[in-house]
Amino acid sequence: MQVPWAEPVLGEEEIQAVVETLRSGWVGMGPRVKQFEASLASYVGVEHAIAVNNGTSALDICLKALGIGRDDEVIMPAMGYIAGAFAISQNAARLALADIDPRTFNIDPNDVERRITPRTRAIMAIDYGGQVCDYDALMAIARRHDLFVIEDAAGALGGSWRGQMAGSFGHMAITSFHVAKVMTTIEGGMVFTHDAELARRARIIRNQGEDPAQKYRHVMVGNNFRMTDISAAIGLVQFGRLPALLASRKRQCERYNAGFADLGDLIQLPHVEPDREHGWFFYPILVHDRDEVAARLKAHGVDYRIAWPIPLHQQPAYAAGFPAGTRYPVAEDVASRLLTLPLFHAMTDEQQDYVIDTVRAAVGAAPLATASVR
Ligand SMILES: Cc1ncc(COP(=O)(O)O)c(C=O)c1O
Repeated sequence: MQVPWAEPVLGEEEIQAVVETLRSGWVGMGPRVKQFEASLASYVGVEHAIAVNNGTSALDICLKALGIGRDDEVIMPAMGYIAGAFAISQNAARLALADIDPRTFNIDPNDVERRITPRTRAIMAIDYGGQVCDYDALMAIARRHDLFVIEDAAGALGGSWRGQMAGSFGHMAITSFHVAKVMTTIEGGMVFTHDAELARRARIIRNQGEDPAQKYRHVMVGNNFRMTDISAAIGLVQFGRLPALLASRKRQCERYNAGFADLGDLIQLPHVEPDREHGWFFYPILVHDRDEVAARLKAHGVDYRIAWPIPLHQQPAYAAGFPAGTRYPVAEDVASRLLTLPLFHAMTDEQQDYVIDTVRAAVGAAPLATASVR
């Protein structure tokens, strides 16, 4: 059996929506982008949503809108996705890192506070795998040190904390609609904020820094970060599917939990903090001898990701910027034992049972006593 790691749900409705958009005579950024923004703003619970061509651009826009630039430091989690680091570098700012929490893999607020220097301007937190960070702690640190907080909810749409949705925390937030995400526009992203002035700036930056009142007059350094109406048309259909997409992932994660519940120390299961509704973009586990386990999964047709295997200070693109011997012990340990298992709407129970059995065998556990769990 072959089981992919992710698989988008793209059906007749998406095809129809694309065809209708092509026939409508308006395919660039237009009415569908506006409608998509309004739908997402209302879902996430923010005043303003700005649709863009991908999540990386959305992070770049946040930094530009907040006025972060040359030699300013921005603190990210040491086990983070490269996109945030690149957005920081694109703005000539400096990548700084803090270690992560050993159970949620989110940025550790205590370590953030230790890493603050006079140059620090912002914290760019990632809601790891779909679980919202502790923004009470991060915002308190930001207030004490006069910093901005950017919530990278690229993989957290649908997650929440005490009923507040991912994408609504911090001064600005983003999400991604990349094809592997829970809902997709194929490529796409969105900036979220409660702040009207930041939203105004974000819209200008997205559109070549152009003065909304005067064509070819450019008031800010921007870029072409626009989303097309074709992408937004797909996004609107996907948004309608979102509750079902989230529900199936949640159920699959519960089945994984049950399938591994008896394994104790052999597998560290995902930890969900109190009052969190997890967005379940990833189902991350920690195992011993990860590379061997991964090789066995591959040999048996089970696809997986290691998200992410190389902490940012060890990435070849950044290693020279960190003194030899720089350590982020938790991030390094987690990155060396991590595996993220297949999770997608169309995964059948049979496929998932096969993944569970394959993982159990790979970590040296006995097959599941099927009747007890299934
Ligand atoms: C945490 C995080 N931030 C940013 C991004 C970048 O999003 P995109 O691929 O849409 O540029 C991703 C994409 O996987 C991500 O996982």
